[in-house]
Amino acid sequence: MKEQLEAIRKAAEKELSAVKLPSELENIRVKYLGKKGELTAILKKMGTIPPEERPAIGVLANEARKFIEQKIEEYGAKLKAHETQIKLQKERLDVTVPGKRHKIGNRHPLTIVLDEIKDVFIGMGFSIATGPEIEFVKYNFDALNTPQNHPARDPQDTFYVDDEILLRTQTSPVQIRVMTSQKPPIRIIAPGRVYRSDAIDGTHSPLFHQIEGLVVDKGITMADLKGTLDSFAKAVYGDDAVLRFRPHHFPFTEPSCEMDTMCFVCHGKGCRLCKGEGWIEILGAGMVHPNVLRNCGIDPEVYSGFAFGLGLERLVMLRFGIDDMRLFFENDLRFLSQF
Ligand code: DAH
Repeated sequence: MKEQLEAIRKAAEKELSAVKLPSELENIRVKYLGKKGELTAILKKMGTIPPEERPAIGVLANEARKFIEQKIEEYGAKLKAHETQIKLQKERLDVTVPGKRHKIGNRHPLTIVLDEIKDVFIGMGFSIATGPEIEFVKYNFDALNTPQNHPARDPQDTFYVDDEILLRTQTSPVQIRVMTSQKPPIRIIAPGRVYRSDAIDGTHSPLFHQIEGLVVDKGITMADLKGTLDSFAKAVYGDDAVLRFRPHHFPFTEPSCEMDTMCFVCHGKGCRLCKGEGWIEILGAGMVHPNVLRNCGIDPEVYSGFAFGLGLERLVMLRFGIDDMRLFFENDLRFLSQF
């Protein structure tokens, strides 16, 4: 029995030394020390040996058990240390490696200039108004004093959804929405997308952006219009910007005008940018037509107002020297990352 115990010890140790996984340790523990284990089997046979030998064998058996338990623990600790080592190796972090830059992109040129313009007008006490891109015909045309026979209403020029609904051709219907939902004094700008049935080329797109402006209060005159637009132009083009107002016609303003800025490249002499004109057309404007005020329930005997509308793409093209409008909508990073 002594030899058997010795053999079990050796066998256990040999097996333990070959173990690679912690789960194998448990198998060995069960194999030798478990209820049906080899050592347990020997202890069960104690009854068959002479009583005087039992204490000595008992001591040996206990030693064997302790030995195996101790070894299991040792190898367990070793395996664990080894695993930790491997894990540390795998997860090694080189804190000297340069960090990864997050590419957050940059703002679209239209957004850059729009934000600037918003700032200028907010600085003058305006707020930002919005309206839907899918608009009622009556807001886009009728309420804006634009008669049935006006060429802008032609289905060739305008995307109609049905007889009463269209994709707005201008931001001007926001004027109607604001004037029918709030009382003067009104001071808003309304930037947004507009749609026209135009073929795409370097200066036309079926989708583009406008910024509408509207001021309604008691005693508003053309002088307020000119002063406000002068401040706007100086903020955008610099303090030496020179403006020119020309008479024009819009159905929803009376009188109406267009505003030009002296070409900032040639200073009026005429060049490629201004096509030899010396002036660059910036926007349309005028005093809100009494009919429009009346259509919105505002008494033109008490209140007056001015309005203006400008095309954002044109402004941005002039600003950055962009010669093709299509670039704004093509999502080409080579273009977009320049701003
Ligand atoms: N809505 C006009 C257009 O699309 C631009 C415009 C002109 C707006 C004069 C105005 C204005 O508010 O007063 O051509």
